[in-house]
Amino acid sequence: MSSDRIVIVDFGSQVTQLIARRVRESGVYCEIVPVGQADARLPDLAPRGVILSGGPASAADPDAPQVPEAVLALGVPVLGICYGQQALCVRLGGAVEGGHAREFGRATLEVTAPCTLFDGVWPVGRHAQVWMSHGDRVTRLPDGFRAVAVSDGAPFAVIADDRRHHYGVQFHPEVVHTPDGAALLAAFTRGVCGLAGTWTMAAFRDQAIADLRRQIGAGRVVCGLSGGVDSAVTALLLHEAIGDQLTCIFVDTGLLRTGEAAEVVDVFRGHYNIPLIHHDAAALFLSRLAGVTDPETKRKAIGAAFIEVFEHQAATIGGARFLAQGTLYPDVIESVSATGGPSVTIKSHHNVGGLPARMGLDLVEPLRMLFKDEVRALGRALDLPEAFVGRHPFPGPGLAIRIPGEVTPERLDTLRRADAIYLDELRTAGLYDAIWQAFAVLLPVRTVGVMGDGRSYDNALALRAVTSIDGMTADFYPFDMAFLGRVATRIINEVPGINRVTYDVTSKPPGTIEWE
Ligand code: XMP
Repeated sequence: MSSDRIVIVDFGSQVTQLIARRVRESGVYCEIVPVGQADARLPDLAPRGVILSGGPASAADPDAPQVPEAVLALGVPVLGICYGQQALCVRLGGAVEGGHAREFGRATLEVTAPCTLFDGVWPVGRHAQVWMSHGDRVTRLPDGFRAVAVSDGAPFAVIADDRRHHYGVQFHPEVVHTPDGAALLAAFTRGVCGLAGTWTMAAFRDQAIADLRRQIGAGRVVCGLSGGVDSAVTALLLHEAIGDQLTCIFVDTGLLRTGEAAEVVDVFRGHYNIPLIHHDAAALFLSRLAGVTDPETKRKAIGAAFIEVFEHQAATIGGARFLAQGTLYPDVIESVSATGGPSVTIKSHHNVGGLPARMGLDLVEPLRMLFKDEVRALGRALDLPEAFVGRHPFPGPGLAIRIPGEVTPERLDTLRRADAIYLDELRTAGLYDAIWQAFAVLLPVRTVGVMGDGRSYDNALALRAVTSIDGMTADFYPFDMAFLGRVATRIINEVPGINRVTYDVTSKPPGTIEWE
């Protein structure tokens, strides 16, 4: 990647990824660096500008994380957001106080002075809606700064030092509730930092191929193919980069949906001339899951079984040195705290947090800096068939994380049958493409029912369907009741062992998309 980039220093905000998304949408490449790693990494990354994220700490607390020295040493423009603004002020000699009434939610800000950050976005006198979420606030500006916008709760809602190109905003420009936020971030990255805004997926593809050639040299690579868009794009990139040094492996974990294994292998072999091993490892995965009920233990057991299979397969194809995975940026971010980042670990995604510390293969993860919608765009740039590009995501741990409690062959069979009916009805209703992901969850709960003249005492099943842009946040899909009724009737009639169907109306947050 060229140095035409922005670095976002992460102070642990839950919405730091959104800053990255907004910046990339403006055609500017960016990376997130945890605050603790900034001093070590910034000199090499040599960004053209730095954004300081929000965070849960209080800048008034002397032990709170500070703006790393490397940020100021670069001499490039800096934009502090919320905690980032406050930390910047404290670092440069201003003051921040806690204990003010919390300002949370929509607020109106008034632009009081011209500022480069507002060029083409806000004229002086504009009243604009912004999203605030803070308890502390700046009470004294450092030398060289002036206030250029105010709000009721924040007299220093936007501050600027035009000489050093340091800016601070108390509100969150990255969230959709700040309607002009994306334009402001683009004014910073393009207007203030002078970046061209020409970063595209075609540019990414060429750069990624060159990087892969450099990393891999003459080595052999195994790539796990799951049938999802991520692993398919990973395989295609590698195929273009290193040709027949690549072997793909499709591991049938026994945790897949009906017909999935055959479908994936057929489509992939039909379209591409890439060596593909179809390995049936159902017995291994099921034995490792016997008696396991804790979600994190399940995920780790599955991650370990995957690596075992790949190491073994790598040895059989004549000494592969590398394992390629379709790890995405959200996986990296959501699993990062285990290795020192400040955000909380939500789940160990099997392809990141679940890896054993000692593994005999080096990882190749060409998508680890991309969001899902960017991977789909990259897939199109690589001419991947739309059937792959548009597939709903399916997690590596498969149906195991859709069976709370112990995973058994019988439960897998029941879930498969219900899930197939649900997806069939979705396709028939023409709803598949409107939905990010839809699946059934087999609940470890038995309920009483009446079927025919008899009493039943069978399992309950939950249906889930969400819309999302990147899986980081999601809304439940508002089906009409007739559709849900149709699916429920078919499942209860056709799948022995299920006598009740519910619909999950939880968004993310506070829920996650998968149940485990
Ligand atoms: P959650 O449940 O964390 O899921 O809201 C967000 C998205 O990620 C998928 N997911 C995974 N994908 N390995 C994967 O490859 C995993 O371990 C994993 N866990 C969740 C999930 O299906 C959703 O699309």
